[in-house]
Amino acid sequence: MTKFTVIGGKASQDVAKKLARKLKATYINTELRTFPDGENKVTLSKKPKKNRILVVQSTYPPVDSNLLQCLSLISKARQFSPNVIAVVPYMGYARQDREFLPGEIVSMQVIAKLFKGAGAKKIIVVDIHSLIGLKHFKISAKNVSAVPELVKYFKKLKLKEPLVVSPDLGGKKRAKEFANLLGSNYIALKKKRDRKTGKVKIISTNLKQVVGKDIVLVDDMISSGGSIIKATEFLKKQKCKRVFVSCTHALLVGDAEKRIKRAGVSKIVSTNTIPGTTSKVDVSNIIAKTVM
Ligand code: R5P
Repeated sequence: MTKFTVIGGKASQDVAKKLARKLKATYINTELRTFPDGENKVTLSKKPKKNRILVVQSTYPPVDSNLLQCLSLISKARQFSPNVIAVVPYMGYARQDREFLPGEIVSMQVIAKLFKGAGAKKIIVVDIHSLIGLKHFKISAKNVSAVPELVKYFKKLKLKEPLVVSPDLGGKKRAKEFANLLGSNYIALKKKRDRKTGKVKIISTNLKQVVGKDIVLVDDMISSGGSIIKATEFLKKQKCKRVFVSCTHALLVGDAEKRIKRAGVSKIVSTNTIPGTTSKVDVSNIIAKTVM
């Protein structure tokens, strides 16, 4: 008997199928029906065995719908096994991990309670926005880094002495990890975000290191594209050569991809935590390694 069953939620079928193959697990598909009032009904295509069950489902937009499907699948899996692992490659709400302004709700904490309540014994996420988010889970919680896989992709591009740049100081550690594996230098820009409007601006000044360099901008996620666009415009003004973007989660809300390209970005590379035109890097391998 195989040790694992993988249940693939509708939002993460690609990762789930690849993960099942790597773990030699039984794969269970899910069916989704949406009623006219917007309610969803998720159904398992077959009964899981009583072994370790992995429920794989990212919570990208529609965030709440994908989240509820994920929790429902966990709750169903729990009827068959006490050993349910939630694999949430992209964890939505992770940026709401603390009270930045008085009165704000720490949504990550609320969601952490829901995962426990639904019956998850453990949760695995990929490049969560900040590790602070994981502290809210009162179950075992593990973050895996997609940076080594993204670097493998960039190595194949054979860029000549690229400079790795984080668009903000919060991403400095990630940029360092990326640069070390790529064998290049790194810097972090200073970015300011208006907590009320969400607008960003780069407040770094003259940076001689970027002149004539190919840049790899490294971030955990792209949502509206604002951070990447501002960083690219700044780097172009500093006379860099080309700008490439590496991120784990490409939400690319609305026309973000178009606007990023228009700002002068040559290529965006992301992972399949969120499937889309830029998701060139697979994360199933790194998830499988933590489970085995
Ligand atoms: C912020 O600290 C994150 O690391 C990302 O830079 C940010 O969330 C991306 O959002 P947007 O694309 O809307 O600027």
